[in-house]
Amino acid sequence: MQIMASVLTADLARLGEEVRGLVDGGVDGIHWDLMDGQAVPGFSFGPSLIASCRPHTEVAFEAHLMLRDPSTALLEGVRAAGCGMALLHPDMLAHPWRVAQQVRDLGMRCGMTLSPGVPLEQVRWLLPVIDRIMIMTVEPGFGGQPYIAAMEDKIAEARRLLDGWEGECDIEVDGGVAPSTIGGARRAGAGVFVVGSALWAAPTFRDAVDELRLAAGAA
Ligand code: DX5
Ligand code: ZN
Repeated sequence: MQIMASVLTADLARLGEEVRGLVDGGVDGIHWDLMDGQAVPGFSFGPSLIASCRPHTEVAFEAHLMLRDPSTALLEGVRAAGCGMALLHPDMLAHPWRVAQQVRDLGMRCGMTLSPGVPLEQVRWLLPVIDRIMIMTVEPGFGGQPYIAAMEDKIAEARRLLDGWEGECDIEVDGGVAPSTIGGARRAGAGVFVVGSALWAAPTFRDAVDELRLAAGAA
C-alpha cells in the first residue's frame, strides 16, 4: 500500500520544511491538489509551487487536476514540475480519452478520478488509456472533510471491474482518509491512499504514517 500526502492543508509558508518532514515521516509521495475555483469551489496553486519543492526530495509527485479541460501548457507545466502522474476528472473533460493520451504522451501516467456522484461507468471505457482509478471519498474542493463510507461500494465495484481487466490499473482513494477510515477503504480494494489533514492530526508525521499503516494492515 502507498500513502500519498496531500499538502492542501500544509503551512504553505513553510512548504519545503513540511514536504521534507512528510518524507522523513515515511509517506510514499506528495499529492498536489490543483484547483482554480471553476470546476470545484476551492482555489489552490499551480505547477510553479510543485517545481519549487521538486529539488528537495526524490519521492513520487502526483497532480490531482480538479480543472475543466486543462490546457496543454498546464499539463506540460505539471510534467516539467516533476510529476509522474496526473489525475483528472472525466466529468470535467470534453474529451477524456484524448486528454489521457496527451498525459501519457507527455511521459506521465494518467489516472481518472470519480467524485462521489459520478458513476464508475465514466471510466469503464477509458481503461485502455489510464493507469489508475481514483475514488473520491469527499466532494472535491477542500481538505478536512468527513469520509463518505458509502463510497466503499464504489471502491469494491472498481475492484471487480479491474479484476476482469487484463491491463495494469490500480485504485486510489482520496478524501477523509484517517486511521479510523483507511481499513474500510483497504478492505474494499484500494491500494493507494491520499491523506491530508489526518497527517497533521498526530503528534508527528511518523506517528500518523505508522498509525495509518497499522490500521490498513489490520484490515
Ligand atoms: C480535496 C482533495 C484531497 C484533500 C485530502 O479536494 O482532492 O486530496 O486535500 O485531504 P483530507 O485527507 O484532509 O480529506
Ligand atoms: Zn486530491
